[in-house]
Amino acid sequence: MNTVLITGATGFLGGAVAVNLLKKSDHYRLLLLVRANSQAAGLERIKENLLKFGVEAGQLNRLTHENILIGDLAEPERFIDDARLTKVTHVLNCAAVASFGANPLIWKVNVEGTFAFASRMARVKGLKRFVHVGTAMSCAPEANSLVVESELNTLREQHVVEYTWSKATVERMMSEMLPNLPLVIARPSIVVGHSDCGCAPSPSIFWVFRMVLTLGKFMCELNDRIDVVPVDYCADALELLLTAPNVEKTIIHISAGENSSVTFAEIDQAMAQASGHVAVAETYQKVNYRELAASRSSFSSLFGPCNERILLRAMNLYGHFSKLNVVFSNEKLLELGMPPSSKFTDYLHHCVASTRNATIAELMEVDFK
Ligand SMILES: NC(=O)c1ccc[n+]([C@@H]2O[C@H](COP(=O)([O-])OP(=O)(O)OC[C@H]3O[C@@H](n4cnc5c(N)ncnc54)[C@H](OP(=O)(O)O)[C@@H]3O)[C@@H](O)[C@H]2O)c1
Repeated sequence: MNTVLITGATGFLGGAVAVNLLKKSDHYRLLLLVRANSQAAGLERIKENLLKFGVEAGQLNRLTHENILIGDLAEPERFIDDARLTKVTHVLNCAAVASFGANPLIWKVNVEGTFAFASRMARVKGLKRFVHVGTAMSCAPEANSLVVESELNTLREQHVVEYTWSKATVERMMSEMLPNLPLVIARPSIVVGHSDCGCAPSPSIFWVFRMVLTLGKFMCELNDRIDVVPVDYCADALELLLTAPNVEKTIIHISAGENSSVTFAEIDQAMAQASGHVAVAETYQKVNYRELAASRSSFSSLFGPCNERILLRAMNLYGHFSKLNVVFSNEKLLELGMPPSSKFTDYLHHCVASTRNATIAELMEVDFK
């Protein structure tokens, strides 16, 4: 039986894949890398996360202490000699400090620790596949383009945040320095919500749309497109990449592509319908950062209790990505047999319903760890 090691299963993407594979535990033995002080605490953290995806308690009981590998990618030397790693046949590496903030662990975890872990797995004789989850944004795409998968050749100054630079760096290191690693690089575009559970698993990035449409102004045009996929689609694609034939040493976007990406105007319409508010299309203004900063004093009355300085910083960062107007080609993924993703606007009402009682400040915390 195959043994699949998933990292990041207490998180958004890793949790969604763990849910998928848990349902197929007759075919897979699962090993989950978790940060915790004990296997019992690690198991508890995993279960708590998977419950957010609507998994039934009975299914969760299939997981035991044996499925838990305690470890921290900031200190890989403390877990990479665990004997269970020699039995691993497939790795799905979702763990990372996925933060737009200035988290001091970004480089240590996303580059140094991840590379040390991948180097260890490259020495496992029976390893058939190592799927590394990168990010489509790590190529620092040109504005107004349809981006196809390519090797990364970016410089630090092309990256707005340390996070995408760290992801670009480790991808290159693994591709160039670990020839024996059966590597597949999956690059999701922007993962927002779940097709059925909305933002219950994570409100990551959803709050940005709510913030922009409440404000009625931002740095993008309403006709700009944005490439969003739901986390369950991303998980299905990652599961496919674990065993798909002839994909070794390739890079594959997990994205909405030209057909399923949407415009901010479409998001405005769907958000208005789901929340019962008036769409902002008639009054929307495209503004620059200085103009956004000028409305800073209105943030608390618009968004509820918040740190206006942090909110403004977030607007600056996400504003940069919002005005890129890029779509990530999904042709390679569709050729592997994945159906197209649903559109963000098809399931956005679930995201609205699941975040109705939360403030922007509460929702955004997840992206500024
Ligand atoms: N969400 C998106 O829109 C998106 C888009 C493209 C690519 N991605 C990529 O997808 C991957 C997962 O992102 P996500 O959105 O699922 O992030 P997430 O919800 O923040 O989950 C991150 C996971 O990584 C784990 N982790 C962090 N630091 C660790 C460490 N030092 N040692 C071991 N595990 C550690 C976390 O564990 P703890 O619970 O212990 O913190 C958590 O399980 C990342 O590689 C990210 O770059 C995400």
